[in-house]
Parts: sequence; structure tokens; C-alpha cells
Amino acid sequence: MEHLAVIMDGNGRWAEKRHLPRLMGHRAGAEALDRCLHFCKAAGIRYLTVYAFSTENWKRSAEEVGGLMKLLSTYIHTKEKELIANGIRFRVIGRRTDLSEKLRGEIAALEEKTKDGAFTLVVALSYGGRDEIVRAAAKWARDAAADGAPLTEAEFARFLDTADIPDPDLIIRTSGEQRTSNFLLWQSAYAEYYFTETLWPDFDQAAFDKALAAYAGRERRMGGRLK
Ligand code: FPP
Repeated sequence: MEHLAVIMDGNGRWAEKRHLPRLMGHRAGAEALDRCLHFCKAAGIRYLTVYAFSTENWKRSAEEVGGLMKLLSTYIHTKEKELIANGIRFRVIGRRTDLSEKLRGEIAALEEKTKDGAFTLVVALSYGGRDEIVRAAAKWARDAAADGAPLTEAEFARFLDTADIPDPDLIIRTSGEQRTSNFLLWQSAYAEYYFTETLWPDFDQAAFDKALAAYAGRERRMGGRLK
């Protein structure tokens, strides 16, 4: 497997179960992300994409939105050295114009500093799959439509936020929900899905191994026929 994607769901419920503020669940979620990064590297996976904030998440309370944005900013600052030392390239996909100028600057700086990493961590931030497709269509219309070249799937994919990132092989969603929630709509065409009841902050090596074992048992026909 080259690319694992995760819908990190259940942070809020994890916190509520412990009578903690929801933000503590997100903090524990950030730690689970760090663990998952190491599981992926050890398993020989080269891309990890995580859904950190959707275009819909702006509707949450100002306190939670502000807390999540601060958590991301803190993550960027505290993890910089570790990401560089571990050869991890940091990338953000999503509608960046929604983010504060400060956060956009921090993201761009970290992307630049980590650009040579052999492993890629993609963070979906203010991300929605439909929004990404619409932005890609607008970019294509603006920059390439006049060329007159036929629009193919491969050509269109060059305008997505994920232009240089392979499609995910496996998408895991934690916490028992079984929806795609607008995550990687275009890129997930042939992805396998794996759902687990485990809440994201509890996602550990055993949960990771179980997901990978389930994936290994799937027959990936990719629309074709197995010989
Ligand atoms: C879904 O759980 C999770 C989120 C909306 C946020 C995910 C963000 C993190 C794990 C923060 C760390 C990320 C980075 C890149 C530092 P939920 O709040 O919907 O949980 P619930 O369904 O139990 O309420």
C-alpha cells in the first residue's frame, strides 16, 4: 500500500466519555496522528492523508473552531524539527483562503522547509471534496480551457489540490460512522474503505494492524477482472 487516508472521527465522544472539554479530545487526536505516522512509516506506506477540518466544520462553536485552529498552529511549530528529522513532507489540501493569513503563512513555511521529505503527510484543512472539484474546474477554465486540448481525467486531476499525490489505496474511518463526508471524492474512486468502532484518540498499533490485515484480504479489481 502506498497511500493511507484517515477520517479521524470520534475526538469529541472520547473527551465527553471522560468529562473533558471537546478540545482535549482533539489534542489526544493530534497525538494519535503522531502515532499513526510512525505506524505508516514502519509499514512502508509513503503517503498519509488525514481529514483535520472540513468545509462544514466552520459551523461548530467559535470556541471549538478557534481551539482547532490554534492546535494546528501549535502542531506546525512544535513538530517542525521532528518532521524534518524524520523526512516527512508536510502538505495541506483544502480551501486555504478560509484560513487566517497567519496560519496560511505558517503552513507555506512548513511546506517549504519539509519539501524534500520522502514520506508525505497531507492534512486536509477547510477541505471538502466537492469544493476541491469546483475549484479545480474553475482553475482549468481560467488557465487551460482556451488551449483547446481535450479534457481527460488525467488532465483534470492536475488541477486538484492533490495534483502530485497518488490516489489513496485505503480509507479508514474511526468511531463507527460509515459515511465519506465529502472526503477525497475524486481520489477515492477505487479506494477500499475500512470502518472501525475505535475512537480516533484510541487508535493504536493493534487497530492499525487490524485495518491493514483487512485491506490485505480484499481483492482489488479496480473495475477490471481478476485473472
Ligand atoms: C472529528 O471528531 C475530528 C475533527 C473534526 C478534528 C480532527 C482534528 C485533529 C485530530 C486535530 C489534529 C490534527 C492535526 C493535523 C494537528 P469529532 O469532533 O467530530 O468527534 P465526535 O464525532 O465524537 O464529536
